[in-house]
Amino acid sequence: MEFPDVKINAYAEAHTSPESELLAELNRDTNANVLFPRMLSGHLQGRLLGMMSKMIRPERILEIGTYTGYSALCLSEGMQDGGMLHTIELNPEHEERIRKYFRKAGAEKKITLHIGNAKKIIPTLHETFDLIFIDADKENYSTYFELVFPMLRKGGYIFADNTLWNGKVLEPVDPNDKETLGIVEFNKKVQADTRVENVLLPVRDGVMILRKK
Ligand SMILES: C[S@@+](CC[C@H](N)C(=O)[O-])C[C@H]1O[C@@H](n2cnc3c(N)ncnc32)[C@H](O)[C@@H]1O
Repeated sequence: MEFPDVKINAYAEAHTSPESELLAELNRDTNANVLFPRMLSGHLQGRLLGMMSKMIRPERILEIGTYTGYSALCLSEGMQDGGMLHTIELNPEHEERIRKYFRKAGAEKKITLHIGNAKKIIPTLHETFDLIFIDADKENYSTYFELVFPMLRKGGYIFADNTLWNGKVLEPVDPNDKETLGIVEFNKKVQADTRVENVLLPVRDGVMILRKK
């Protein structure tokens, strides 16, 4: 299966506002110089995150999985003045590039970067969040969901990326494939959770959006 459909995706991108010059530069830089550039949200999903942030107007945002900082910059677009986005990245090799682009965007005062394991860092954040983006190691999506749910305000949103996992969610899962198992378990958990309403958007690799009732 070609997922998502290449022509539909190209058409959708052609009818979506362009990336800012800075985001385009970060996208190019990541693709040219960083391992696994497919992890970056990219043009279409980045514009979706930016648009949804402008709709929600969050004051406090948490991102799990910064990579090179592309989605953090998109999520910060609709943040209220005086707001703060916390973003957590395990791999210290990304730190210099992340900080460089946050600085170039003039966002270093409204984005706090934490380098380390999200499972350890999340419990140290004594905050209530309006918007949380889960986009780190797939096997821990359910753990992250449980960890952050009490920190999400009533009426707040969680977005989780890669919830269609290249279509692997449709196939029988190899019991050794922890990433696919993690995504399938997370999707089931959310779907069965009566404390939330949710929609799985088939954009790029699938974005689960849920709202705390
Ligand atoms: C898919 S990428 C994030 C992409 C980014 N959100 C974007 O859209 O541009 C996932 C990132 O999560 C990081 N990661 C993996 N396990 C982690 C953990 N336990 N704690 C924090 N970050 C983690 C990886 O190093 C990687 O950079």
